[in-house]
Amino acid sequence: MGDQYGEDNSGANMKVGIVGQGYVGLTLAAVSAYHFPVVGFDNNEKLIEQLKSGESHIEGVESAVLRQHIKAGTYLATHNSSKLADVDLIVIAVPTPLTINRLPDLTSIDSACRTIAENVTHPILIINESTSFPGTVRNYIKPAIEKYSSKLIEHEYAISPERVDPGRTDFNQKNTPRLFAGMTPVASRKTRDFYSKFCDNLVEVSSPEVAEAAKLFENTFRQVNIALVNEFAQIAHSLGISVYETLDAANTKPYGFMKFTPSAGVGGHCIPVDPTYLATVAEEHGAPATFIRRANEVNLEMSEYIVKRVAADNGGDIQGKAVLVVGVAYKPNIADVRETAAELVMQHLRSQGAVVSWHDEVVGSWKGESSAPLHGADIAVVVTKHAAVASRPKI
Ligand SMILES: NC(=O)c1ccc[n+]([C@@H]2O[C@H](COP(=O)([O-])OP(=O)(O)OC[C@H]3O[C@@H](n4cnc5c(N)ncnc54)[C@H](O)[C@@H]3O)[C@@H](O)[C@H]2O)c1
Repeated sequence: MGDQYGEDNSGANMKVGIVGQGYVGLTLAAVSAYHFPVVGFDNNEKLIEQLKSGESHIEGVESAVLRQHIKAGTYLATHNSSKLADVDLIVIAVPTPLTINRLPDLTSIDSACRTIAENVTHPILIINESTSFPGTVRNYIKPAIEKYSSKLIEHEYAISPERVDPGRTDFNQKNTPRLFAGMTPVASRKTRDFYSKFCDNLVEVSSPEVAEAAKLFENTFRQVNIALVNEFAQIAHSLGISVYETLDAANTKPYGFMKFTPSAGVGGHCIPVDPTYLATVAEEHGAPATFIRRANEVNLEMSEYIVKRVAADNGGDIQGKAVLVVGVAYKPNIADVRETAAELVMQHLRSQGAVVSWHDEVVGSWKGESSAPLHGADIAVVVTKHAAVASRPKI
């Protein structure tokens, strides 16, 4: 990272605060601490203790880099919110999940706003990187900070949605184009100044709402195409043809086609969640979100379809059979199990009476259980194919 992002202290007089030190916040801290003093605030005390000792919990952020920043005095991990008092810029990078009723849950954004309001008493730039619906910065974050502040402070506000793809090495903070928009020209200029230190390609759009909507649409595009290929996998099977060969054949077209591959569903923090933010705000404005809603259902139904196929391929009954689910992370070569489709596959297998265990050497342990050996089962179902697992799941 050191060579990739370079050492540049030209902005060293600007102090940066990052609220949330997870995938997005810590990745940003590791990159920006080459250029600015960074305060990484998180309300998870245990995580902060780990970060203070220079131990990264995120793929793509090397512990050696954290230790280098800590030693240089350019990175401070803290759960003491008063350390944010003298920063010039704060980036919000907190979770934006769904409630139990599958509605946008801005609880963490609200509490981040409260933290900022209670600790920062001079005007700064506040940038949101958390994914949320159009209007979040203007109609939610700004009013929340004003509500929690003891006096009116004229902060600047901007959005720059994060596009990090965990585990990916060819695209990173430096070479992934970054969208941004400020609520004022001053906010836009300051936002550009910040990101231009470590990002080569900044794309300014006309309003925060466009940037927020673009982020949601990017992930909705993936969700809908994954659902389409999952439906097509079922069609191909019913026709007795290989879905993989058919997709490879279609992919020889040099334009107008983009290949997605079938799966047990979608997982992770973004694809199962972000489209619902878009659908909710669409419906609130009286616009249909039929495609998005149906794509979500198709992806959720995929786990049940796979288990039906497993049963059909094994004499129609898997009652009492030992089934090993191979790969429980939500995608290959990372340890993230958030919203993983493997969980639904396991639930459906168990509901059919199978005795289920799982193997995943990247995840290691999950829900108090350890990865089981790769042998000894009657049936293996490869849900996520890490590089270490060579065979292709049969669809
Ligand atoms: N992970 C990704 O690949 C990715 C990519 C693009 C965008 N995003 C978006 O970025 C946002 C953050 O995602 P993430 O993956 O980094 O989440 P994460 O769960 O990895 O990290 C969030 C961190 O915020 C902390 N936190 C929660 N509330 C807080 C508060 N009020 N004050 C301080 N810390 C708080 C949590 O303890 C956690 O460490 C989400 O909106 C997500 O949708 C994530």
